[in-house]
Amino acid sequence: MSWHPHLWHPTTQVAVAPEPLRVLGARGCLLELEDGRRLIDAISSWWVTLHGHAEPSIAAAIGRQALELEQVIFANFSHGPAEQLATRLAALTGLNRLFFSDNGSTAVEVALKIAWQWWRNQGSDRRQLIAFEGAYHGDTFGAMALGDRSIFTDPYDALLFDVARIPWPHTHWGDENLEQREAESLRQLEIALQTPTAALIVEPLIQGASGMRMVRASFLREVQKLLKASGALLIADEVMAGFGRTGSLFASQRAALQPDLMALSKGLTGGFLPMGATMASERLYQGFISENPSHTFFHGHSFTANPLGCAAALASLDLLQQNPERFQQFEARHIPQLEQLSLHSQVARVRCLGTMAAFELESGANSYLNPVGRLIQRLCLEKGVFLRPLGNVVYLLPPLGISDSQLQQCYGALEWAISQLP
Ligand SMILES: Cc1ncc(COP(=O)(O)O)c(C=O)c1O
Repeated sequence: MSWHPHLWHPTTQVAVAPEPLRVLGARGCLLELEDGRRLIDAISSWWVTLHGHAEPSIAAAIGRQALELEQVIFANFSHGPAEQLATRLAALTGLNRLFFSDNGSTAVEVALKIAWQWWRNQGSDRRQLIAFEGAYHGDTFGAMALGDRSIFTDPYDALLFDVARIPWPHTHWGDENLEQREAESLRQLEIALQTPTAALIVEPLIQGASGMRMVRASFLREVQKLLKASGALLIADEVMAGFGRTGSLFASQRAALQPDLMALSKGLTGGFLPMGATMASERLYQGFISENPSHTFFHGHSFTANPLGCAAALASLDLLQQNPERFQQFEARHIPQLEQLSLHSQVARVRCLGTMAAFELESGANSYLNPVGRLIQRLCLEKGVFLRPLGNVVYLLPPLGISDSQLQQCYGALEWAISQLP
C-alpha cells in the first residue's frame, strides 16, 4: 500500500515515516489490520482509548442516543445527557461548572480564556501566565504558547505570546539531587510570582508529550501553596492524566491539588468521540454573571455538548466507577515487569504512575528526533505490539482492559527489541 493521494496525516514527516498501516477494526486492546495481523494497541491510540476499543456498553449508549437526539445548538438549548454529565463531573472533580469544547487543545484554550477574562471582569489587569519547561498543552495557538517551545512550535514562534517558564523537576527510580532541583524550581516560581500573575498551568504529576516526565505530588503541593498565596489561578491540564490514568480518577486528586480550572478530553468519552470539557469553580463562573455584556464568555463551538459525546462519556464513567480497581491497581501490574526491564544496560530513568510506564534508552541524544524510537517501534511491530516512542523515551500506556498476557506480550516485545539494538 502507498500513501493515499488525498490524506494528510498528523505529526508525520512523509519523507521518512513508514506508510500507515490500514486498520479494518479494533476490539478490546487489539487493532485488526487489513493484512490479517493483530496488534496490541499499547498506547491507547494516542492515549484516548480508556477501557478498550469497541467497548460494547459505550457503543450501545452512543447508538441509543443517536436515535433520540444526535445534536442540537447548545446556546438557547440544553439537554439531559449534558446536564447529567455536568452533574457527575462536578461531583467527581469538585469544580462546579462544565464548559464543553471539542478536544484537548480547545479544553485548554477555554481554561486560558476563562482565567484571563475572569481577571478582566474583576477589573484587574494581571497579565502574567506561568507554565513549566517541557509542557505540552496542545496545537492551537493559545495552547502552543503555553507549551514549551520546541520543533513543534518553531515555525510559529513569532506569533506566540510570552509565558514565564519554570523548571520541571522530573524524577525517576533511583533519582538523586531531586530535593535540590525541586527547591530551585520553587525559588524561580517565587520570583516569577512577584509579577502579577493571572494563572499557572500544569500537567499534574506527569508531562506527557515531552517524554512522560513525572514529578512528586509533594512538589506540586508546594507549587499550589505559593500560587494560592499570590492569588493566581491554578489550571490543571488533565487532558492526558484524567480518568484513572494516574491510578486515581484525576491526577489532581492523587496529588491533593484543588485547581480552579481543569481541562479534560481524551479518556472523557472512553476514547470514542472527540470532546473537551473545561471544569471551572463556581467562583470563576460567578465572575462572568453581570449586566455588562462585555463580561460574557463569548466562546462556543458548533458541536458544544454534542449529545453523542455526552452519552459516551456517561457510559465510560459508569465503567470507571463500577471497576475502580482496574485503574487503582494498574501500577502493581507494571512494576515487576518494569523492574525486569530495568536490568538491561541500555534502559535508564525508569518511572511508573498508574497505567503509565516509561523509560529512556541510553542510545544517542535525549531527543524527540532520536531515531532509536522508530527502530523500537518497527521491532515491536514484528512482535505484534504497537508503540510510538517519543524519541528515546519508550512508554506503555495501554487501555485499562488489557489482559495480563497481553501486557506480558508488550514487555516481551520490548525486551526483545532492546536486545536487538546495536
Ligand atoms: C496534557 C495535554 N494537553 C492537551 C493536549 C491536546 O489535546 P488534543 O490533541 O486532543 O488537542 C494533549 C494531547 O496530547 C495533552 O497531552
